[in-house]
Amino acid sequence: MKIKRTIQLTVILLIGCASLKAQNNRLIIETDRGKTTINKHIYGHFSEHLGRCIYGGYWVGESSEVPNKRGIRKDVVQALKEINIPNLRWPGGCFADEYHWMDGIGPRNERPKMVNTHWGGVVEDNSFGTHEFLDLCEQLGTEAYISANVGSGTVEEMSKWIEYVNFDGESPMANLRRKNGRDEPWGVKFWGIGNESWGCGGNMTPEYYSDLYRHYSTYARNYGENNLYRIACGSNGSDYNWTETLMKNAGRLMQGLSLHYYTVPKDWNDKGSATDFNEQEYFTTIEKTLFMDELITKHSAIMDKYDPQKRVGMIIDEWGTWYNVEPGTNPGFLYQQNTMRDAIVAGINLNIFNTHADRVQMANIAQTVNVLQAVILTDEERMLLTPTYWVFYLYKVHQDATLLPVSFTSSKYKQGGKEIDAVSISASKDSTGKIHITLVNADLNNEQKINAQLVGSSIKSVRGEILTSEVINDHNTFNEPNKVKVEEFKDVRFSGNILELVLPSKSIVMVELE
Ligand code: AHR
Repeated sequence: MKIKRTIQLTVILLIGCASLKAQNNRLIIETDRGKTTINKHIYGHFSEHLGRCIYGGYWVGESSEVPNKRGIRKDVVQALKEINIPNLRWPGGCFADEYHWMDGIGPRNERPKMVNTHWGGVVEDNSFGTHEFLDLCEQLGTEAYISANVGSGTVEEMSKWIEYVNFDGESPMANLRRKNGRDEPWGVKFWGIGNESWGCGGNMTPEYYSDLYRHYSTYARNYGENNLYRIACGSNGSDYNWTETLMKNAGRLMQGLSLHYYTVPKDWNDKGSATDFNEQEYFTTIEKTLFMDELITKHSAIMDKYDPQKRVGMIIDEWGTWYNVEPGTNPGFLYQQNTMRDAIVAGINLNIFNTHADRVQMANIAQTVNVLQAVILTDEERMLLTPTYWVFYLYKVHQDATLLPVSFTSSKYKQGGKEIDAVSISASKDSTGKIHITLVNADLNNEQKINAQLVGSSIKSVRGEILTSEVINDHNTFNEPNKVKVEEFKDVRFSGNILELVLPSKSIVMVELE
C-alpha cells in the first residue's frame, strides 16, 4: 500500500516537473465537445495506370508465380486490408482523360492495346479494366472511386460507363456487363468528372470546364438507390479563382470538389532525391507540406461563400511527396523510395485533414503501390511496407471517429533563420469511447515534451505506438524491409486527467486512452 502511494506520488511529481519544461507544448483536449465526424474516406488511396502501380503492383495475371486471386496479388491486398483502406481512386490521374473504358472489358486477349502517352509511352494492353478493378475493390473491401474521361471522351461514353457499372435492369450496357460475366451491378457511388482539367485533362479555363461539368454531370445518372457522389475537378494548389468560378457556376450540381497539391522539396525541374537530402532540404519539405493547411483554409473560405452548409465536400484526391525518380528507373514511371521524412509528411497531412473534417470529406494519397509516395513497394514476388504505410496503420483509428477540439501551442523547429511548428496533433473519440491522439514531432534535433489536459474525462489506461528511426533518411529496402517500423511507445504517463508524453525527434506517435 505504502509502495503504491509512493509510486503515485512519484508519477505526480514527475508530471509536475516535466510540465515546467514543456511550456511550449501544452495541449488541452475537450473530450466531450466533439461535433464533427472524421470521414473514413480521408484515408483513401489513388492508383493510376502509371509505371508499376497497376501492372506489377496489383495485377500479375492469373498465370503468375506470384500468389494471386484472379490475377490480383494476395500480399498487396492483405497489407492494404490491414490499414482499412476505405476507397481507391482509378484509373487516373492524367491517364483517366485518355482512357476509353470499353477497351478494357470482354475477353482479355481481344482487348485493343493503346499507348500510355503520359507515362513512359508504354503499351497498355488493357488487361486490367473495369471488371478487374472492381474485383480488386471487392477483395479489398473498399469503395471504388472512378474518374471518368472528360478530356478526350464523350458524355455518351461516360454515361454508358455508369450504366454498365450501376444499372440493375434490362439495358444495352447492363446486358453487356452480364455477357462479360457479372450479373449484379457494383453500385459505384464516387465518380470524378475529369481530372486536372486545367492541365493534362484538357488545359481548360475554369469557365469552360464549369460548363462541361454542368453538361457531363447531368448525364451522370443515379440508378436505383445509388445516389452518385459527383466530384468536380478542382484547383491546382492555390488557384483560388478556379474554386471561385466552379462554386459560382456549378456548385449546386456537385457533391465534391477536388484539390491537388504535391509536396516537392525543390522545384519541378529538379525535385530533389527521395533518400539523399540534408536537414535544410528536409526543413523545406516540411515547410511546404504545412502549406496544405493554408490551402484548405483559403479554399474552404471560398466554398463557404457559396455553400455555407458545407454540403459540398473538399476532396483532396491527389497529395503526397514528389521527388526525382530513383536513379536508373524509367522517368515516366515516377518510382521513388520512401523515408522517415515521408512518414512525417503523411502524419502532418493526415492531422491537417482531420482538423478540417468539417469540409474535407475525402483524400487520396498518390499513389498506393510503386508510384510517388507509395505505401507499398514491390519487386517481382517481393513486397515491402514503406514508412508511409505505417502512418496509415497508426492513424486508422481516426476513421469515422469524432474529431475532438484541441487547443495547442507548439514549440518551434528552427532551421536556417526560419521556424515552423515542431509538433502537429489531432485527436478523436471512436464509437466505443476510446480517445486517440496522433502526434508528429517534425524536429530533427529535439525531443518534445507534451503536457496534455483532458477536459471531460479521466484516464484509466494508456497504450501507444511509435514510428521513428535513427536518421531521417532511413527507409525500408527489399534487403532490409523492417528498418523503419512501428513499435510500442512507452514514454507516456498519466494521472487523473493529465497525460504526459515525450516525443523523440522525428517521430510519429499514436496514443489510445480509455
Ligand atoms: O499522380 C501523378 C499525376 O499527377 C497524375 O496523373 C496527375 O493527375 C497529377 O498531375
